[in-house]
Amino acid sequence: MPEHVPSRRDFLARAVSAAALGASGTAELSLVSAFATSRPARAGAAGLIPYGSAVRAGALESDASYRAAIIGNCEMIVAEGEMKWGDIRPTRGEYRFEKADAIIDFARQNRIEVRGHTLAWYGGLPAWTEDISSPAEAERELVDHIRTVVSRYRGVIPSWDVVNEPLVDVPQDATSLRPCVWTRQLGAAYLPIALRTTAAVDPDARLVVNEYDIEFKGARFAAKRKALLQLLRSLREKDVPLHGVGLQAHLFADRAIDRDGLQQFLLQIAELKLDVLVTELDVVDYELPGKISARDALVAEKAREFLLAVSEVVRPKAILTWGLSDRYTWVPIYFKRPDGMPNRPLPLDAELKRKPLFDVIDEFRSKA
Ligand code: XIL
Repeated sequence: MPEHVPSRRDFLARAVSAAALGASGTAELSLVSAFATSRPARAGAAGLIPYGSAVRAGALESDASYRAAIIGNCEMIVAEGEMKWGDIRPTRGEYRFEKADAIIDFARQNRIEVRGHTLAWYGGLPAWTEDISSPAEAERELVDHIRTVVSRYRGVIPSWDVVNEPLVDVPQDATSLRPCVWTRQLGAAYLPIALRTTAAVDPDARLVVNEYDIEFKGARFAAKRKALLQLLRSLREKDVPLHGVGLQAHLFADRAIDRDGLQQFLLQIAELKLDVLVTELDVVDYELPGKISARDALVAEKAREFLLAVSEVVRPKAILTWGLSDRYTWVPIYFKRPDGMPNRPLPLDAELKRKPLFDVIDEFRSKA
């Protein structure tokens, strides 16, 4: 059972009291009433695509300069890990929301919008989910989790990555789903179950299927585009609630973007009447030369190649990077540089100084 039942009212109450207390000297509380226009709405009114970043609750708490950089630069944030199963469900009977709530509170105080990430994913699952041993049990756990999490943040999180990374790396077709507890017990049915449950709990939420490796040149990436399209089309045909596709866009500086392949894919997505969001942009730089100015230029150039291909055919609803500053990035977990120099995949460097990648993002935010 949840330790604490839906607290949308708590959030509203806290926001109202924060606004009533007024400025207390911090940037966070100096702003406006609880009902002022959100930052994404303001960006939209100014003709800009909203920009955002993944954040870490621990760093928001401990690192004031990072917090100020997020406030200064982001219209949206998404929890890098704090809303995943591993964080929220450390044990079977428990829901822990402290870190997720801290991110929501921070966002609310600063009129920043929060995207939800993620409800049905093969990754980040706590070990106890391995004990799930029947379809009925899997469905019960998945549905209970989604109901509890989505209802807690109903009216607070307008857009969810409901399904993350459904497909294997080299899919044959839409049936090539990642092996995990959900597919083992429920097969392809886990996707409609997750999407329908989310929609039933929060009919206003925008529901997204999020995937990576969609943009590159090469047979396995063409296969991924084809399989994803097939998967999305079959959900549409079954009238499963779905509003958008998230292109994670973890780019690699040494991998070519397939402009034509990506654009064909996006045109077919548009035919399905689905939104496109860039959800996790960064540029993996582990095989680039060490020299920083050259490396930053190549990173920016790769993002430009990608964003240009996208924006020639669709206007993404949002552009988010997977982190704002090189100070906090997942990239070295998997792609440490052989020369031992720190990775530089993000718009701000580790000292929070702007890099050319940020200029590229700004350029595309204002494109029609
Ligand atoms: C990553 C986080 O950045 C890491 O901190 C965590 O340990 C593992 O997950 N695609 C996704 C994200 O959808 O959830 C992943 O985030 C990065 C790849």
